[in-house]
Amino acid sequence: MDPQRTRAFGERLLDLLTGNVLTMLIGIGHQTGLFEAAAGGPATCAELAGRAGLDERYVREWLGAMVTGRIFEYEPGTARYTLPAEHAALLTGARSANVGPVAGMLTNLGAVLPSVRRCFTEGGGVPFAEFAVAAGDSLGENWRNIYDEHLVDGFLGAVPGLLERLRAGARVLDLGCGTGRAVTVMAREFPASRFVGLDLSPAAIAQAEAERAALGLDNAEFVVADAADLPADPPFDLITAFDAVHDQRAPEVVLRAVHAALAPGGVFVMVDGNYSSHLENNVDNPYAPMGYGISLLFCLPTSRADGEGGLGLLWGRELAHRMLADAGFRDVRVLDSPRPQTALYICES
Ligand SMILES: C[S@@+](CC[C@H](N)C(=O)[O-])C[C@H]1O[C@@H](n2cnc3c(N)ncnc32)[C@H](O)[C@@H]1O
Repeated sequence: MDPQRTRAFGERLLDLLTGNVLTMLIGIGHQTGLFEAAAGGPATCAELAGRAGLDERYVREWLGAMVTGRIFEYEPGTARYTLPAEHAALLTGARSANVGPVAGMLTNLGAVLPSVRRCFTEGGGVPFAEFAVAAGDSLGENWRNIYDEHLVDGFLGAVPGLLERLRAGARVLDLGCGTGRAVTVMAREFPASRFVGLDLSPAAIAQAEAERAALGLDNAEFVVADAADLPADPPFDLITAFDAVHDQRAPEVVLRAVHAALAPGGVFVMVDGNYSSHLENNVDNPYAPMGYGISLLFCLPTSRADGEGGLGLLWGRELAHRMLADAGFRDVRVLDSPRPQTALYICES
């Protein structure tokens, strides 16, 4: 026993426990509008509570954690709290750098912990619908910001010639489209192309369809369907899957169906975790602990709810290459995506 090592680990555990509580409170700050209110400038607790329309006593306790957690600054002379602009850049606004949506989602996932814990003893999984009830809009919120900022120039623009094909007119499918933001962004940007968003979740598809109708996009449609049943005809010029393949209950079947549903010269763009399939290669990846955690709390139980699934978010590049080759893709390139946590697989026959 090295007492110094124990002491250092104790300090790390304190950091972790503190981080866990602050994550929950960041989630609350995001969901109640407190960060947005604080971005309006220094304020007393009562002013901040007034701006956000919240109970002052709860806001004061929250601010205590925010100040001692070094997220806000406090000036005792004026009793004013300040969210520094450099911090507001990462906690406010409809932008992908805002970690509020992720903190909100992690906090909401707490509601399904008893069900996930049960899977440890009984196996099986937890239906997506249970997560949708617990986590609501927070599941897709982070991805909405990512699509708005990075989808066209970042993800699609990285594929040589793809923007030109979409401008000219192509038939496109987004698999596991969730609440459909990728489809509506693409449909707006490429009016000559036609888009289909497919997802197993009726609630997500209803939300996607409502947004499509509100935007008046008539070159997009949404369907509730299992990706494993994707028909080969009529074929698509482009199939996309954002963070969706590892969540499938039958991923091999889905990848084969995707390959069969591509028109000659078509391309499958798969955005998925940027990890290795081997744990030892992920040890120095700063995103890996959170990746394994989200995989355990969400990806694994949803994909195993009524099937053999269970790839997990960190199924990794090595296994992805093997499975894509088995599905029939002969030319697979992996590019960096605009986010270090995700890789861009460009798959052609
Ligand atoms: C992590 S989410 C992907 C994020 C999504 N692309 C977005 O924009 O929010 C995974 C999605 O895959 C969907 N999914 C899981 N299994 C599916 C299946 N067999 N067929 C179709 N969709 C499926 C889930 O309902 C969920 O919406």
